[in-house]
Parts: sequence; structure tokens; C-alpha cells
Amino acid sequence: MALEYSSSYSLLPQLIITPCFFIFLIFLLYSISLFHVTFTSASTPTTSLLKVEQDQEALTLLTWKASLDNQTQSFLSSWFGRNSCHHWFGVTCHKSGSVSNLDLDSCGLRGTLHNLNFSSLPNLLTLNLYNNSLYGTISINIGNLSKLITSLDFGFNHFSGAISPQLGFLTSLSFLALASNNFRGPIPSSIGNLRNLTTLYLHTNKLSGSIPQEIGLLRSLNNLALSTNNLIGPIPPSIGNLSSLTFLFLNDNELSGAIPLEMNNITHLKSLQLSENNFIGQLPQEICLGSVLENFTATGNHFTGPIPKSLKNCTSLFRVRLERNQLTGDIAESFGVYPTLNYIDLSSNNFYGELSEKWGQCHMLTSLNISNNNISGAIPPQLGKAIQLQQLDLSANHLSGKIPKELGILPLLFKLLLGDNNLSSSIPLELGNLSNLEILNLASNNLSGPIPKQLGNFLKLQFFNLIK
Ligand SMILES: *[C@@H]1O[C@H](CO)[C@@H](O)[C@H](O)[C@H]1NC(C)=O
Ligand SMILES: *[C@@H]1O[C@H](CO)[C@@H](O)[C@H](O)[C@H]1NC(C)=O
Ligand SMILES: *[C@@H]1O[C@H](CO)[C@@H](O)[C@H](O)[C@H]1NC(C)=O
Ligand SMILES: *[C@@H]1O[C@H](CO)[C@@H](O)[C@H](O)[C@H]1NC(C)=O
Ligand SMILES: *[C@@H]1O[C@H](CO)[C@@H](O)[C@H](O)[C@H]1NC(C)=O
Ligand SMILES: *[C@@H]1O[C@H](CO)[C@@H](O)[C@H](O)[C@H]1NC(C)=O
Ligand SMILES: *[C@@H]1O[C@H](CO)[C@@H](O)[C@H](O)[C@H]1NC(C)=O
Ligand SMILES: *[C@@H]1O[C@H](CO)[C@@H](O)[C@H](O)[C@H]1NC(C)=O
Ligand SMILES: *[C@@H]1O[C@H](CO)[C@@H](O)[C@H](O)[C@H]1NC(C)=O
Ligand SMILES: *[C@@H]1O[C@H](CO)[C@@H](O)[C@H](O)[C@H]1NC(C)=O
Ligand SMILES: *[C@@H]1O[C@H](CO)[C@@H](O)[C@H](O)[C@H]1NC(C)=O
Ligand SMILES: *[C@@H]1O[C@H](CO)[C@@H](O)[C@H](O)[C@H]1NC(C)=O
Repeated sequence: MALEYSSSYSLLPQLIITPCFFIFLIFLLYSISLFHVTFTSASTPTTSLLKVEQDQEALTLLTWKASLDNQTQSFLSSWFGRNSCHHWFGVTCHKSGSVSNLDLDSCGLRGTLHNLNFSSLPNLLTLNLYNNSLYGTISINIGNLSKLITSLDFGFNHFSGAISPQLGFLTSLSFLALASNNFRGPIPSSIGNLRNLTTLYLHTNKLSGSIPQEIGLLRSLNNLALSTNNLIGPIPPSIGNLSSLTFLFLNDNELSGAIPLEMNNITHLKSLQLSENNFIGQLPQEICLGSVLENFTATGNHFTGPIPKSLKNCTSLFRVRLERNQLTGDIAESFGVYPTLNYIDLSSNNFYGELSEKWGQCHMLTSLNISNNNISGAIPPQLGKAIQLQQLDLSANHLSGKIPKELGILPLLFKLLLGDNNLSSSIPLELGNLSNLEILNLASNNLSGPIPKQLGNFLKLQFFNLIK
């Protein structure tokens, strides 16, 4: 599952100005020559020294602009002259006249950063290049960026190469996003120097190696996304020191081992994504201690053992995906009533026991999938009270008894899959009321009697399988 984030630093201008590269080139030559003049004559006075610095910043930006693909600079047509603080698009300045923010989110820029001299923007606080077509490596000179920089966003570009360990020099960073690029190699351990980080987005790259234990030094972290990479090895126990974490995305890697007990120290998680790794052992036991967990996925691992007790009372749950593991336990005992639960998939595990009538009290539930388990007993008629249900999949279990007629009052139900069970008796006429039903599978049961002619009301029915 990919994690999306949007960068909210800038509003796209409504107006696209035509590129004016020739004019720009003339200005560039002009400013270079003037720069030299100013520089040589600026022996002492503070005002002209400042002017030199300003010219230097403008020259730095113009040099970078000139290195970008010609066709992709339309947003930068206001970048000319010698004063980058004078209405240059995406540039904001300190009162002193030095550049403080570069905000070029979604500008369609194509090119590299090789010609952006990081040393020449000494007062930069934020650098936002999110969602452009920038490529190439990020040189070790990245460490020459201002020590004051708090936010660096290179997300959604085509950068490649290693993540430079020199990023660890930028100790004021609170937001660092390199997500959705082609970065390779390990996560440098120097990342542990960034003690003020609250958000670290490295997801959707080709990062390899293990998660450095230094990650546990980032005690201010709220959001950590390492998903969709090639990371291996276990979750370092030091993660337990990240007690402020609210979002933890580790899904779609090759992580292995058991979830460290120290995870129990993180009690404010709202979203925990562990899907599609090689984890073993039990699910983290105390994940809902703070009663704020909304989204939890652990799909496609080798988790064993029961559902954590803390999940039973976890009334904040919204979306839960635990399918394709070897989880076990009595399904009637393991789950409670979840007033905001929207989606739950427990399929392809080893749950046993009977279906609880409590599912009927999950009034927001749109999808319930418990197929491919070992559940038995009857389908509780109370399921008819889960009035938002759109998909119900209980196939490949040992359910017996009748199909409750109450399922016929679920107004939104469009998929009803009950095949491969031991259901008996006749198909209730009430199923004919399911006007949104598109897929019905009752195959491989012990159903008897006629097929009710009301089933002919299923105008949208695509897949209708009653074969015994
Ligand atoms: C950009 O435009 C200049 C001037 O017309 C030209 O010399 C240069 O080759 C162009 N570069 C690219 C990458 O198109
Ligand atoms: C990325 O930028 C393009 C314009 O270059 C814009 O159309 C698109 O909506 C942006 N996408 C995101 C995810 O911000
Ligand atoms: C980058 O800027 C710094 C400081 O202004 C300067 O000393 C250095 O020579 C510049 N480097 C390049 C490659 O232009
Ligand atoms: C920039 O960083 C490199 C590598 O860290 C360093 O060798 C160089 O001296 C720095 N340059 C400036 C102008 O700070
Ligand atoms: C980290 O944040 C604290 C509190 O906001 C601040 O006092 C400190 O100066 C910051 N550290 C750095 C290196 O910016
Ligand atoms: C958590 O932080 C404490 C104090 O800095 C340290 O002693 C401990 O080793 C850390 N725990 C882990 C598991 O890294
Ligand atoms: C973190 O978890 C470990 C193991 O469960 C425990 O021994 C330790 O006391 C916890 N640390 C904190 C700061 O809660
Ligand atoms: C949970 O997932 C839903 C649907 O994907 C999303 O809209 C919501 O923002 C997520 N909540 C959290 C806390 O991530
Ligand atoms: C769940 O909540 C009920 C009622 O609040 C309480 O009696 C029970 O001990 C809780 N169970 C767990 C596992 O926290
Ligand atoms: C339920 O889960 C099974 C196995 O994981 C899957 O094949 C099936 O498509 C799911 N049912 C629905 C309705 O999504
Ligand atoms: C399924 O449950 C029955 C009892 O209901 C038990 O005898 C059987 O071993 C279970 N099968 C599996 C594969 O867990
Ligand atoms: C199927 O259900 C019938 C009762 O309806 C029962 O006699 C039979 O043993 C069940 N078969 C299996 C394989 O569970």
C-alpha cells in the first residue's frame, strides 16, 4: 500500500507565465558582471557586504535555474535581476534581505541539483521541491545547507543514488521527506543526529539494509514512514523510545523477526502498517493501550497466536487488515463492538469458534471478510443490523444451519459470499430484496429446495453460483 502525502507549503499560482529564457540569459550575464564589480569594491562597509550576499544568493538561484530544462522553467520566469527577494516566485526572504524559504512544490521543474550551491543560501529555513521531475544524486554538499533549515522536502521526484550521511548535519530539521524517489542503499545511521525531527518520510524508494537502531534517538518523531522499500532484518528495539509516534508505516518491505516487546511503549499510535513483510511471532500486544488506534494492517506476514487483548476494546478502530497470517483463537472471544469500524479482513487465518452477534452492532461496517478460516456454528441473524454492510465474505469455513433471512434487509449489500460451508435448508426468499446485489456465491453447501424466483430481481447480478 502506498502512502501519499501532500505538501502544503505553497499554493500553485493560477497564472502560468511564458518562459523568457533569452531575457533571463541577458539578465544573468548582467548580474554576473555586476556581481564581480560589487564584490571587488566591497572591502568593508556592512551595507555593501550584505548586498554582495544578496547578489550571491540571486546568482546562486539563477545559476541553478539556468541548469534546468528550458521547457520546465515557466514558473520561474519572475527569476531575473539581482534581487531574489524582489517578487521572485516561490522565494521568501528574511527582513535582512536574505532568502529564507524556497517553495517550488509542483512546478514541473526538470533537472538536477548539481548546480544549486547549498553553501550560498546561508539563512534558508525551508526547501520544498516536492512533486517535480528532478533527478540525479544529492551530493554530500547537502550538509552545507544552512544549519537553521527546519524543513526539507524532496518527495515525489526522480532522485537516485544513496541518501547522503551528511544530511545528519542538518540538526534543526523537523520535517524531512525523500519519499517517492529512486534512492538506494542504506538509511544512514547519522539520521539519528536529527533529534528535532517530527516527520521522516523515506517511503517508496529502493532503500536496502536494516533499519538503523539510531532511529530510536529521534524522540520527537510523530510520523515515520519507511514503507515500500527493500528493507530487511528486524525492527530495532530502540523504536520503543519513540513514545510520540502516531503514524508508523513499515509495510511492503522484507522485514523479519518478531515485533519487539518495546513496541508496547508506543501508546499513541493512530496508524500502524506492518503488511507484506516476513514478520513472525505474535501481533504487538498493547497497540491500542492509548485507545486511539484507527488503522492497523498486518496482512501477508507469518504472525501466529491470538488477537491482542488490547484490540478487543479498541473502539477507535476504523480499518483492520490481518488477512493471510496464521492467527488463531476463538473468534467470538477475540473481538468486541467497534462503533466506527469501516473495514475488517480476517480471512485466510486459523480462527475458530462461532461468529459473534456483536458484528451486528458495528453500525459503520461496510466490509467483513472472515473467509478461509475454521469457524463453525450458525450465521447470527443479528448481522442484519450492520446496515452499512456492502461485502460479506464467510466462504470456506464450517458454518452450518440456515442462511438467516435477516441478511435480506441489508440495503447496500452487493457481495454475498457464503460458498464452501455446510449451510443447509432452503435459500430465504428475503434475499430477493437485496436490490444492490451483484455477486452471490452459495456454492458447495447443503442447500435444498427450489431457487426462489425472487432471486430474479437481481438485475445487477453478475456471478450467481449455486452449484452444490
Ligand atoms: C536551452 O536553451 C538554450 C538557449 O536557447 C540552448 O542553448 C540549450 O541547448 C537549451 N537546453 C536544453 C536542455 O534544451
Ligand atoms: C504534481 O504537480 C503537477 C503539476 O506539475 C500537478 O498537476 C499535480 O497535481 C501534482 N501532484 C501532486 C500529488 O501534488
Ligand atoms: C558555493 O558558495 C560558497 C559560498 O558562497 C562559495 O565559497 C563556493 O565557492 C561556491 N561553490 C561553487 C562550486 O560555486
Ligand atoms: C561543502 O561540503 C563539502 C562536503 O561536506 C565540503 O568538503 C566543502 O568544504 C563544503 N563547502 C562549503 C563552501 O561549505
Ligand atoms: C530543537 O527544538 C528545540 C525546541 O523547539 C529548540 O530549542 C532547539 O534549538 C532545536 N534544536 C536545533 C538543533 O535546532
Ligand atoms: C531508550 O532511551 C534510553 C535513554 O536514552 C536508553 O537508555 C535506552 O537504551 C533506549 N532504549 C532502547 C531500546 O534503545
Ligand atoms: C519499554 O519497554 C521495555 C520492554 O517492554 C520496558 O522494559 C521498558 O521499561 C519500557 N521503557 C519505557 C520508557 O517505557
Ligand atoms: C485510516 O484509513 C482511512 C482510509 O484509508 C483514512 O481515510 C484515514 O485517514 C486513516 N486514519 C489514520 C489515522 O491514518
Ligand atoms: C474491556 O472493557 C471492559 C469494560 O470497559 C472491561 O471490563 C474489560 O476488562 C476490558 N478488557 C480489556 C482486555 O481491556
Ligand atoms: C476475502 O478474502 C479472501 C482471501 O483473503 C479473498 O480471496 C476474497 O476476495 C475476499 N473477499 C472479498 C469480498 O473481498
Ligand atoms: C477446525 O476446528 C475443529 C473444531 O471445530 C477442529 O477439530 C479442527 O482441528 C480445526 N481445524 C483446523 C485446521 O484448525
Ligand atoms: C453439516 O451439517 C449437518 C447438519 O445440518 C451435520 O449433520 C453434518 O455433520 C455437518 N457436516 C460437516 C462436515 O460439518
